[in-house]
Amino acid sequence: MVDQPVRIDLGSEIFSADVLQPSVGNRGFDVRKLRPETGYVSFDPGFANTAIARSAVTYIDGAAGQLLYRGYAIEDIASNCSFLEVSFLLLYGSLPNAGELLLWENDVSRHTMLNEEMRSFFDAFPRRAHPMAVLASATYAISTFYDVYRRPTREQEIDAGARTLIAKMPTVAAWAYKKSIGEPYVYPNNEFSYVENFLHMMFSRPTEITPIDPAIVKALNVLLILHADHEMNCSTATVRSVGSSRASMFASVAAGMGALWGPLHGGANQAVIEQLQAIHDDPDATIESTIARAKDRNDEFRLMGFGHRVYTNYDPRAKVLASFAQDVLDRMSIEDPLLDIARDLEAAALADDYFAERKLFPNVDFYSGIIFRALGFPQRMFTVLFSIGRLPGWIAHWVEMNNDPETRIMRPRQIYTGETERAYVPIEDR
Ligand code: SDX
Repeated sequence: MVDQPVRIDLGSEIFSADVLQPSVGNRGFDVRKLRPETGYVSFDPGFANTAIARSAVTYIDGAAGQLLYRGYAIEDIASNCSFLEVSFLLLYGSLPNAGELLLWENDVSRHTMLNEEMRSFFDAFPRRAHPMAVLASATYAISTFYDVYRRPTREQEIDAGARTLIAKMPTVAAWAYKKSIGEPYVYPNNEFSYVENFLHMMFSRPTEITPIDPAIVKALNVLLILHADHEMNCSTATVRSVGSSRASMFASVAAGMGALWGPLHGGANQAVIEQLQAIHDDPDATIESTIARAKDRNDEFRLMGFGHRVYTNYDPRAKVLASFAQDVLDRMSIEDPLLDIARDLEAAALADDYFAERKLFPNVDFYSGIIFRALGFPQRMFTVLFSIGRLPGWIAHWVEMNNDPETRIMRPRQIYTGETERAYVPIEDR
């Protein structure tokens, strides 16, 4: 169905814009000729209504609470796939067959080790360093050992760069954690699967190998899959923006980590636990007082883990995690009072007009922290776990952007509200 062009009546002239058809979801109208033809620019802070590219990686229907990775429903792949399988899907566009998956798993597992010179890199950080700062810095540092992966136009370099980042990020994350607790680094062991290896490096010691519970491996696979991509979110748009200057995959991903770290984005999973803990520990902080603060426009306090730019319905990932949380706690025989507080907070918010009118529901970050905690991860590692999950999505978008003939360097315009030209005043006359 090809729509008639959209006509914008500017008074003295009509601007006509072609309509761009999606395979599903929002149609767009093409404003690339708007400024050259009319002198007008469109105004859309945060790109809330602006498509920055055509993409085939992930589709979200915010009103229906639907999330598809390359057309597959998140619920289906979260229950049936491994994280490396989904990484292959996002990177290459289709689910791997058994042979392709085995090759991919072997390729990744043989590149989990860091160059030994990277050990001193970790020593340079103070123990109290936030692991997100270490992760983003290490991504740049790793690129110095692999600067051959600079040119985004060479297929084998893209594959090698993607494999290198996906293989090494868990090792970087685990070593950042070990450094923060003053324990020796644990090297990857190729006997383990991807997620087993990460748990091994996180929780084993040179003196003993910590037994790995298959239920924890399954839970972490699901969590990483749920975080693997989410179309043009803040950090992915950052990866695309940095990559649009022809910056390397490593530099673009490191920039994405910086964006994800913010508490309005991936940093929310840590902020949710801090908020739940405050209600638990502070007798003055109750469900009611927390909801009241979140509604108070004079208070910058937000109900962390709630609300979303795209979902005006329940985030399907939060739905999976809400049911998953109790299973994991039961399996670990953990009683976590924060889960009950989270459930009460959700019920109170969903029953409140303020949240209903604004269509604010739990997002992926509302329950993920409770599960990460139950799996033994410290709070400061939560956004690092989000980063490991989001890595294949960031890379898939970086590759798609570099292969897109419509890509131009990201350089938005502005509506200038500052001083118009004025005469210079020498300092003696000021
Ligand atoms: C992620 O984009 C993605 O896809 C991100 C992500 C991904 O997978 O990549 O899904 C991951 O980042 C999830 C979001 C994690 N962040 C949080 O949980 C932080 C808390 N949420 C909010 O700060 C907020 O909801 C955002 C940042 C998520 C969305 O912000 P928007 O779209 O800019 O919405 P807004 O700030 O304009 O809010 C609209 C209204 C405002 O009220 P009014 O001005 O209309 O009176 O809703 C209110 C806001 O005050 N509001 C909230 C709220 N979220 C929005 N009020 C209280 N608590 C909240 N959490």
